[in-house]
Amino acid sequence: MPKTIIISNRLPVKINKSNNEYQLSPSEGGLATGLGSIYKEGDNVWIGWPGFEVEDEKDQHTINKKLHELSLLPVYLTQQEISEYYEGFSNEVLWPVFHYYASSYASYSQSNWDFYKLVNEKFRDAVLKVAEPGDTIWIHDYQLLLLPALLRNALPDVSIGFFLHIPFPSHEMFRLIPWRSELLEGMLGADLIGFHTFDDVRHFLSAVTRVLPVTSSANIISSNDRSIVVESFPMGIDEHKYATLPKQKDVIDQIKQIKESFKHTRLVLSIDRLDYSKGILQRLEAFELLLKLHPEYINKIALYMIVVPSRDNVPQYQHLHDEIDKKVGSINAIYRTMDWTPVHYYYRSFPIETLSALYYSADVCLVTPMRDGMNLVSKEYVASRINNDGVLILSEMAGASKELIDAIIVNPNNIGEICRAIIQALNMPLAEQQSRMQQMRQLVSKFNITHWVKIFMERLKEVKTLQRSMQTRHVSGSTGQSIINRYAKTKKRLIFLDYDGTLVAFKANVADASPDTELYSLLDQLAEDPANQVVLISGRKHENLSNWFDDRNIYLIAEHGAWHKQQNTRWHKIQGLSDHWKLDIYPIMETYVDRTPGSFIEEKTYSLAWHYRKAQKGLGELRANELMNNLKYQANDKGLQLLPGDKVLEIKNMEINKGKAALTLTANGDYDFIMAFGDDYTDEDLFKALPDSAITIKVGSNISAAKFYLRNPAEVRRFLFDLTESTVLHDKSI
Ligand code: UDP
Ligand code: G6P
Repeated sequence: MPKTIIISNRLPVKINKSNNEYQLSPSEGGLATGLGSIYKEGDNVWIGWPGFEVEDEKDQHTINKKLHELSLLPVYLTQQEISEYYEGFSNEVLWPVFHYYASSYASYSQSNWDFYKLVNEKFRDAVLKVAEPGDTIWIHDYQLLLLPALLRNALPDVSIGFFLHIPFPSHEMFRLIPWRSELLEGMLGADLIGFHTFDDVRHFLSAVTRVLPVTSSANIISSNDRSIVVESFPMGIDEHKYATLPKQKDVIDQIKQIKESFKHTRLVLSIDRLDYSKGILQRLEAFELLLKLHPEYINKIALYMIVVPSRDNVPQYQHLHDEIDKKVGSINAIYRTMDWTPVHYYYRSFPIETLSALYYSADVCLVTPMRDGMNLVSKEYVASRINNDGVLILSEMAGASKELIDAIIVNPNNIGEICRAIIQALNMPLAEQQSRMQQMRQLVSKFNITHWVKIFMERLKEVKTLQRSMQTRHVSGSTGQSIINRYAKTKKRLIFLDYDGTLVAFKANVADASPDTELYSLLDQLAEDPANQVVLISGRKHENLSNWFDDRNIYLIAEHGAWHKQQNTRWHKIQGLSDHWKLDIYPIMETYVDRTPGSFIEEKTYSLAWHYRKAQKGLGELRANELMNNLKYQANDKGLQLLPGDKVLEIKNMEINKGKAALTLTANGDYDFIMAFGDDYTDEDLFKALPDSAITIKVGSNISAAKFYLRNPAEVRRFLFDLTESTVLHDKSI
C-alpha cells in the first residue's frame, strides 16, 4: 500500500543517554508535538534526527530497533554536522533571518552552508532507501529547504509536499541570504508548498518571482514546465487530547495540587522553548511594570513561567538564558514577600499531563512572541479550557493571532500594552471570558491537526492531478503528434498568430521586438503552402505591421481588429467607431505617466495603451491596478473595454476585439482546420470566439480558455516548423 513519508530534521521522539542506557522521550516544539500524534497510520514512516550524536554502530542498531517499533527512521548526524548544519546554518542563519533578526543575529559562513547542503543530501539518501512508487513525500521546515529539489531530481514523478513551520519573511529580509536562489530552487522541487498564514504566502511569492526566473499567476508558480501551488494551511493541534486530559485522574490530582499551592493567587501562565523570538524578556518586563505601577496586585498574582531548554550550544540562546535568569532573579528579589513569590520560573520541560493541569488552572495565558510561525501553546491553552473560562493574551506577531481573534491581541514590543492587557484579563467579567473562549474553542476544535493533514494531503493530490492534466495539454509528444496528423490531412487551413509574446519574446523596448530572419522564413514556409491562410493578429499599430510584413503573403489584423488587410491590398479600417473618448481618457493616463517613471502612453486609432515594462517592479502593477479602478466606471459609460496585458493596460472601443475580427474570416470560408496561437488577455477573446473544432494554443501559461499550451515563443516556432515539415513528408508519402 502506498505510504506517506514524513521528513523533518527532528523526530517526534528524542534520545537521551542515562546510566549507559538509551531512552526515548517526546521532542518539544510545535512540529513534533503537532504531527506526533497522528503520523502513525498504515505503513507511514517518519524520517529524522533523533537529537543526539550516536557514534557506535551497535548503539545505532539498538536505537534503530526501538525507533522502528514507532515507525521512525533515524538519520544520524556527526558532531560536526550538528554544529554546522543544525546549529550553524539552520539556527544561526535561517532561524534569525526568517524571524526578522537578521541584523542582530545572523552570521553567514560558507562552511555552514556546505554542511547544510551535505546533510540535506544525507536526508535524500535516507528517503530514497524507503521510497516506493506511489508514495507521498511530506517534508517539513527550514532545516530541509533543499530536500524537495534533491528528491525531485531523483524521483521526477513523485508527489512532494513541503510545509514551513516558521514565518517566511518579507523579500527585503530574505534577499540578505547569500544563498537565496539555491534555497528557493530547493523549495520549488515540491508540488505543494504550505505556510501557516497568507502573509507568509505573499512573502514567498514575492521572493520567488524576484529572485528566480519564474512566473506566478495567483498562487501558482510556473517553473520549468512544472506548476507549483503555494497556499496557507494554518496548523492545528490534537484538540481532543487537550480537551480530555483534564478529566484524567492523574491530571485532576495535579490540578488539585496547583489550586492548593496558588489558593489566593491568580495564575498567569507562560510556556515557551528558550528562544529570542518568543519575547520572554519583554514579557518579564511587562510583568515587572505591572507590579511597579499596580502594587495592589502584589501577593495576588503569580507568573508561572516554563522555559524549555533549546539549542543550548548556539551562543545567542546561552546569552538569553543568562538574561532570563538575571531578570527573574531581580524581579523576585525586589517584590518577593514572606509567603509569596511573583515569578515561578522553571527551565526544563514537563510531561503533557502537567502542562494540561497548568493550562486548565491558569486564569490567564500570556503568549507574546516577537515573531512566531503559528504558536501551538496558545491553541493548547484554548483547547484545555473546557469550562470556557480563562483569558488568552496573544501577540499579533504569532500566526495564531490571525485565527484566535477573540484573544486580547497585543504588540509584543509594547510593554505598557501587555501590562494593561494583563490587568484587563484579570478583571474580565466571566460572561465575556466565556463568549470569547467559546468562539476560540470552536475554531481550535474544527481546525484541528487531523483537519490540517487532511486538507494538505487532499490539496497535494489535486495539484498532482492538475499537473497531469496540464501535461496532456502541453503540445508535445502524442498531443503534438495528433495535431500534426490532423494538420497534414486537411486542405483548407486558417492559422491565427499573435505576434508579441507568441512569435517573439517580450523586449524592454516595444520597438526592439522586430522579426528576425528565422521568423520570416518560418512564416514564408507556412504561407507557401496553398492550403494555408496565415493571419497575423496583433494589438500593434497597422503602420507597424505594414513595415514588417507588407510584402509577405500574410493576412494582417492590427490594433485588435480595428484594421485589416489582405495580401497586396490596402488597409481597411472598421467603420462607424468614434475616438472622441480619448480626449477624456488621455489626460487621466498622463497623470500616471507623470507619477510612474519608466511608463508611457501609446496611442492607436481606437485605443490607448499605458505601458509600464520599464517601471520599477511592483510599482507598475500597483499603478496599473489603480488606473484600472480609476477608469472602470468611465469605461463602462463610454462603451470602452479595459485590457490588462503583459506590463500594459490598454483601453479600447468595446466593439473591437480579436474574437470578432477572427469571426469575419472564419465566416467567409469553409476551413477544415482552424488554429490560433496567443499569449495574453486579448487572445482569450480569439480562443473563445473560434468554433469548438479549432485548435487553440496559449503561450507562456496554462491558465486559459485555450485547449492546449506551449511554454514560450521558441516552442511555438519549433511546433510551426514541425507542421510545415509534416506536409512535406505527407506529400512525399502519397
Ligand atoms: N511543550 C513540550 N514540553 C514542555 C513545554 C512545551 O512539549 O515542557 C510543547 C508545547 O506543548 C507545544 C510545543 O512544545 O506543543 C511548542 O510549540 P509552539 O508552536 O508553541 O512553539 P515552537 O517551540 O514550535 O516554536
Ligand atoms: C520550531 C521549529 C521546529 C523545531 C522546534 C524545536 O517548532 O519549527 O522545526 O523542531 O522549533 O527546535 P529544535 O531546534 O529543538 O528542533
